[in-house]
Amino acid sequence: MTRIAIFASGAGSNAARIIQYFRNHETIAVALVVSNNPGAGVLSIAANASVPTLLIEKERFFRGDAYLPELQSSRIDFIVLAGFLWKIPQALLNAYPNSIINIHPALLPNYGGKGMYGLRVHAAVLAAGDKESGITVHYVDEHYDNGDIIFQDRITVDGTDTPDTLAEKIHRLEHQHFPRVIEQVVSLRKQ
Ligand code: GAR
Repeated sequence: MTRIAIFASGAGSNAARIIQYFRNHETIAVALVVSNNPGAGVLSIAANASVPTLLIEKERFFRGDAYLPELQSSRIDFIVLAGFLWKIPQALLNAYPNSIINIHPALLPNYGGKGMYGLRVHAAVLAAGDKESGITVHYVDEHYDNGDIIFQDRITVDGTDTPDTLAEKIHRLEHQHFPRVIEQVVSLRKQ
């Protein structure tokens, strides 16, 4: 069994889909939900689904042991970032080589980097007059939104779109693809 931890800072709609998809899965289990935000909706989603949660704080994450003892005692093999807004510290990247992936609500390398999350991304896409946007799943490295791209899919941006309607379309696309992409990456990865 490959045990996944989902890291999320917000509402957790992707986390909810991932938890649901892997419930009763033969080879993959969501074993932990990690959040930096005590008010994050994702924590109640996890609690309702009986998935253990871990609340982390900045100092220990970035300048301490990056919570490796907890991740190891939960026997986590693979990490999925689903709306997680902090950078991943080097200690965690070293402990999980090629085993941390992120989803970004735009077509990277466009509209990535520090501060580019949620509605800000969609507002930037609209301000640039782009005719399409999409989602990117990629490996995580020491820079924001930078690692090798695993999967992308696109949607059309209409003249009537607002950041909110774009967010809705993008969320639908994420929910449709992310669990399956995680399943493929985990199954194909070298043990
Ligand atoms: C998702 O759209 C995800 O792509 C985005 O945050 C949203 C979280 O939604 N991530 C980023 O912007 C990372 N730079 P959710 O909490 O409902 O899953």
